[in-house]
Amino acid sequence: MAKSEVKTSLLDNMIGVGDSVLLEPLTEDTFLENLKKRFDHCEIYTYIGDVVISVNPYRPLPIYTPAKVEEYRNRNFYELSPHIYALADEAYRSLRDQDKDQCILITGESGAGKTEASKLVMSYVAAVCGKGTEVNQVKEQLLQSNPVLEAFGNAKTVRNDNSSRFGKYMDIEFDFKGDPLGGVISNYLLEKSRVVKQPRGERNFHIFYQLLSGGSDDLLKQLKLERDFNHYNYLGQESAEVNGIDDAANFRTVKNAMQIVGFMDDEAESVLAVVAAVLKLGNIEFKPESRVNGMDESRIQDKNGLKEICELLGQDQAVLERAFSFRTVEAKQEKVSTTLNVAQAYYARDALAKNLYNRLFTWLVNRINGSIKAQTKVRKKVMGVLDIYGFEIFENNSFEQFIINYCNEKLQQIFIELTLKEEQEEYIKEGIEWTHIEYFNNAIICELIENNTNGILAMLDEECLRPGTVSDETFLEKLNQVCAVHERFESRMSKSSRFLNDTSLPHNCFRIQHYAGKVMYHVAGFVDKNNDLLYRDLSQAMWKTNHSLVKSLFPEGNPAKMSLKRPPTAGSQFRASVATLMKNLLTKNPNYIRCIKPNDQKAPLIFSEALVRHQINYLGLMENVYVRRAGYAFKQPYDPCLERYKMLCSQTWPHWRHGARDGVEVLLTELRIPSEEFSYGRSKIFIRNPRTLFKLEDQRKHRLEYLATLIQKIYRGWKCRTNFLLMKKSQIIISAWTKRYFQQKKYLRLKMVTLRIQSYIRGWKARKLLRELKHQKRCVESVTTIAAYWRGTQARRELKRLKEEARRKHAVAVIWAYWLGLKVRREYRKFFRANAGRKIYEFTIQRIMQKYFLDLRNKLPPLSPTERSWPVRPYLFLDGTHTQLRRIFHLWRCKKYRDQFTDQKRTTYEEKLEASELFKDKKALYTNSVQQPFQGDYLEISKNPKYQKLNGAVEEKILLADVVNKINRANGKGTPRIFLLTKSNFIIADQKSGQIKSNIPVMDITSVSVSKQTDGLFAVHLKEGSTAASKGDFLFTSDRLIEIITKLYRIIFSKTNQKIAVEINNEFLVQFNQDKVCVKFIQGAQKNGNLPACKRKNNRLLEVTVP
Ligand SMILES: Nc1ncnc2c1ncn2[C@@H]1O[C@H](COP(=O)(O)OP(=O)(O)OP(=O)(O)O)[C@@H](O)[C@H]1O
Ligand SMILES: [Mg+2]
Repeated sequence: MAKSEVKTSLLDNMIGVGDSVLLEPLTEDTFLENLKKRFDHCEIYTYIGDVVISVNPYRPLPIYTPAKVEEYRNRNFYELSPHIYALADEAYRSLRDQDKDQCILITGESGAGKTEASKLVMSYVAAVCGKGTEVNQVKEQLLQSNPVLEAFGNAKTVRNDNSSRFGKYMDIEFDFKGDPLGGVISNYLLEKSRVVKQPRGERNFHIFYQLLSGGSDDLLKQLKLERDFNHYNYLGQESAEVNGIDDAANFRTVKNAMQIVGFMDDEAESVLAVVAAVLKLGNIEFKPESRVNGMDESRIQDKNGLKEICELLGQDQAVLERAFSFRTVEAKQEKVSTTLNVAQAYYARDALAKNLYNRLFTWLVNRINGSIKAQTKVRKKVMGVLDIYGFEIFENNSFEQFIINYCNEKLQQIFIELTLKEEQEEYIKEGIEWTHIEYFNNAIICELIENNTNGILAMLDEECLRPGTVSDETFLEKLNQVCAVHERFESRMSKSSRFLNDTSLPHNCFRIQHYAGKVMYHVAGFVDKNNDLLYRDLSQAMWKTNHSLVKSLFPEGNPAKMSLKRPPTAGSQFRASVATLMKNLLTKNPNYIRCIKPNDQKAPLIFSEALVRHQINYLGLMENVYVRRAGYAFKQPYDPCLERYKMLCSQTWPHWRHGARDGVEVLLTELRIPSEEFSYGRSKIFIRNPRTLFKLEDQRKHRLEYLATLIQKIYRGWKCRTNFLLMKKSQIIISAWTKRYFQQKKYLRLKMVTLRIQSYIRGWKARKLLRELKHQKRCVESVTTIAAYWRGTQARRELKRLKEEARRKHAVAVIWAYWLGLKVRREYRKFFRANAGRKIYEFTIQRIMQKYFLDLRNKLPPLSPTERSWPVRPYLFLDGTHTQLRRIFHLWRCKKYRDQFTDQKRTTYEEKLEASELFKDKKALYTNSVQQPFQGDYLEISKNPKYQKLNGAVEEKILLADVVNKINRANGKGTPRIFLLTKSNFIIADQKSGQIKSNIPVMDITSVSVSKQTDGLFAVHLKEGSTAASKGDFLFTSDRLIEIITKLYRIIFSKTNQKIAVEINNEFLVQFNQDKVCVKFIQGAQKNGNLPACKRKNNRLLEVTVP
């Protein structure tokens, strides 16, 4: 955040006191009270200066969000409320910006939250440092190394469900920009005894449970494992399931993490195979077998388990079996093999399991280091994070606890030394007077443990290396001799022990008063564990396997590299590595996180005062606060101090243009703070009493309120003025626009009026001009008209004159002709006879007639009777002749045409003529018949064999044969019948059989009736009383009605020389039996084509519907 932005401070919205140095009064009780108050309000972090105290909340808190990371990013340590992120940020920034290597020392007893804190620091640094694909991968690998190491190195203990059973120091390496390059992990002494035995209420390492819970069926089958925990001796029967731990899910996380860190699939498989083998080793049981020489020998009870282990490890079963039964000791180039008894066999088995697991763990750390190590050789900046197993006191404390607590002692020592040294140095550096503060220095305890000549570890080593019988008891005896006088050492036998008679201290135990409390250690197992003996036969057997990972774990098994030298003891190894670690830490700038465990129940919200008080004591927190406060309770560089309080002084507010120190001096002088309350250091101001600071804070608060009001006032004023100016400006703009608008309107109106007047004037002028022009035009026109009239008059006069002249000339000519004629006639009368004129006339006529006839001969029209043309008449007087000649010519050509006819054709034409006379313009059907030739015999009776019989029955020549519809008199329905006509009869016969139905002489026919329409219905009326008329008149329909009736008419005429009546009417009467029936034709839609539909309506009426 930029300096000009609003500054916050850890003093803002404080719950209790964020920095214990400011506690007033400062006592252990107020200190504890303050921690409790903050813990109750979810404020788990409290500062002692720059040391962070973290109280384990035992529940997830929403204070590790990305938003929080952003909040603390690039902020000063005291700017925000205490947080582990503030420490991480401070460390990271001084690493990045000031090039100082850092180490984060996290201390506290088991379950206090060290591992969590280390992870928080790492995740914060990962979040704030550089980004990019490569960098992200490095970060991811660094972070993902945690789940793998936790699975193999952590276990549930009575103190902590995820207790680290190894010490871990991780160096994170950065480049000059602060981007992570990689890391190096160092591990310290895994508590491997846990592999074979766990204290009550505790578990083995997580990985065993994770594998059995989370491994797929196939994987377990492949590893020859059963899913049941109870099946394995090495897994504690109780507390296998832990509340809040999902082993299966964690297994998936571990596998995933292994993949991210860069484990190959076969590497991961090999690791799990070793884990499975360790589990299965625990199930190998031995039984005693007596030998002939009286020695007891052990035998493996169930060789199946051993076989499976050998399969998993690629081992020859016989080799391993032998290694469990014999022990070879080499001394002075001699090899002596002795058999192992059952107890020794079990010892060997457990030693193998522990070693296998321990070496696997070391291999894992190295493998991870291989993946995460920085790829470049550029100079690196380093941030070390130390998360070591916490100080622990169990019911039964053994070698492991001794080692763990020794390590914690060392850390405590480094803390004490560094904090005090730093503090002291700072006062000196700043030129402030320094008074020494008393504090407990645990160097004496460290001495007791690590002293090279008479330290406990040295004694143990000596005992282990000593020839002769060595046991834990001899070791204790030695301790009793050497350390008895030490004020921090107690045992039953120690001469100086004040508890000589203290029965609470058993014989096989010794007690050390650690900085964190008294711990009683059972010596049992010290020697063995320190020796960390694995029979050579076993390591050699392991080396012989085909399993490359296992082979690499036991290099000493290689006979070529066999050495008779004893390997260094566990204790000395540890002491050396701790010494290296301490040396390493001392080169770096330390940052402390001191974890406190609030209760033993691992429960949230419980703050056990006694427990916390104890931790405050042994962690030396009070001393820490006292030291911080010894001289001055509060110190701050001049710049931020001036920045924070400059508003309290009129000279420094709002801007101070000189040095920060001068500014602070001016400020404090003006505030009249007594000079003994503060000291000016070289770069910092030191405030003696917290009260002074709080007073400053109070004044600042009030001043801020005042300033806020002032700012508010000015802001409001500014806002109102801005608003006013804005309104004024708007008003001017609006009025300008309004004026413009009205002026514009006025101008437009004026313009319009002007234009109108202009147009009126122009119109008036134009009209005037037009009038003048029109007048001129009219004048011109009238002149023309007058001229035209005048010319007309002249012309007419001339015409009249000319006509008059012509008439006169004509009259003169006529008169002259008459006069001449008269003269001639008078002169020549005597020369002509009286009738000469008549002869001339006749001659002329003759000539004309001659010419007329000759012309007509040449122009005669064609001989077709239908031709209508005739030449034009030449003289009017020939009109009558011409017409007559035309008629004569036509008759002549018709005759000529007729003369070409045969008899039959003539008859046909006669019939057609007859038909025309009978029906033309009377019946509508007639026009259709004109085109049809009258064929007569349509059925060809004589030729058709079907009508042979009928032909035989008719004697006369058949003039007409056709099929007609005979209308039933009763209902008007038609039946097809053959209709034959001979010279004297007409015959009706059945159409199919040809049988004659009626034979009626034509003489009996009186008349025929038809309609005017296009229908083919006709009635044949018969003489009343004739035989034929017994049933009454006949009604027929036929398309050939015209032909039938014409033929009938002609036959009767030729026979009787009488014309029968052909009645053509739309209504006529017929005689049916005794009834006179009216046949009535009506128009209507036709159902069956063109045929008329007859319907007998009643006795009097037969309706025929025609189209
Ligand atoms: N900041 C925290 N927020 C929430 N829970 C926490 C926090 N710190 C610790 N815990 C809880 O406390 C438990 C113990 O913490 P952790 O494993 O860090 O202890 P430790 O000090 O490393 O102990 P050990 O020395 O046995 O390894 C964690 O499993 C977690 O449940
Ligand atoms: Mg831990």
